[in-house]
Amino acid sequence: MDVELLERTAAELVASGKGVLAADESNGTMSNRLAAVGVEPSAETRRSYRSNIFATTGYETAISGVILFDETIRQKMDDGTPIPEYLASRGIHPGIKVDTGAKELANHPGEKITEGLDGLRERCEEYFQMGARFAKWRAVIRIGEGMPSLACLSTNSHALARYASICQEQGLVPIIEPEVLMDGDHDAQSCYDVTASVLKMTWDECKKQGVHLKGVLLKPNMILPGNSCSDRGSREKVAKMTVDCLTENVPSEVPGIVFLSGGQSDEDATAHLNLMNAMDIDHPWELSYSYGRALLARALQTWAQGSSEASQNAFRHRAEMNSLARTGDWREELDT
Ligand code: 13P
Repeated sequence: MDVELLERTAAELVASGKGVLAADESNGTMSNRLAAVGVEPSAETRRSYRSNIFATTGYETAISGVILFDETIRQKMDDGTPIPEYLASRGIHPGIKVDTGAKELANHPGEKITEGLDGLRERCEEYFQMGARFAKWRAVIRIGEGMPSLACLSTNSHALARYASICQEQGLVPIIEPEVLMDGDHDAQSCYDVTASVLKMTWDECKKQGVHLKGVLLKPNMILPGNSCSDRGSREKVAKMTVDCLTENVPSEVPGIVFLSGGQSDEDATAHLNLMNAMDIDHPWELSYSYGRALLARALQTWAQGSSEASQNAFRHRAEMNSLARTGDWREELDT
């Protein structure tokens, strides 16, 4: 394991003022998003939309890495430059989603296990050669009656650690993403408790499997009430509970935490991160972002309406707002 390379890549991904763009929607998810804004989904429309985003000027100050899907890492910019090569030329690390999706967990209706360990070593080797320097694997945890089960927590944390170990062997920094979903009517305390459990089990598996914690990034959910919970709390409460949960459950060796947005509004995702970074609390890890929808929702809409430039402006704006949130310097009035 090239510990020096892993630690350097991880540190660069969470460098001051920077975070990650998650543009790794599977073909199915990206196609649904295109169809929802009236665009015919195809490999070419997916390429055209994403290459326009990647060609935006000036976003390197806010984005250190871009997570790609297998189709995209093999595609080219309009001028024929391979996308990973283009991103690297802008000083941005190409990353790659390496799981093959969350599937039904046997005998546990409503729960999922993320697959993709078979052949993972060979895929990582190929992606590294194509220029990827980090990877992502997303586990999905649902809160509900009798959920999550021990089976769901233990199988997913075991798989996350196996994935992390293989990535590190192949020179890729693994982003470990155990996502506790916002779906449901559970309260914020339930989200806290479940997030704490899955984090504990994941680090426990990582320890057993010899994962080098200084060379990983964690991509967790924030501590939020379920979508249909009537007690919405406040932004301050979300920020405080999230930092408390992470302080209790993330080892100090982990260099960075890059949140997912998970269906929060653009502005909530920025405001929550900003509040966490503005708190007068010493924490050993960087608190950053790896947002998908919260960086790109408006950019997709404007692109679908026919304006490449408006789409790039929308993306740059959200990237800049989140960059400010890295240091607690975002203000609502800047976000017009
Ligand atoms: P969202 O920020 O849209 O939740 O996506 C992040 C991600 O990569 C989920 O796996």
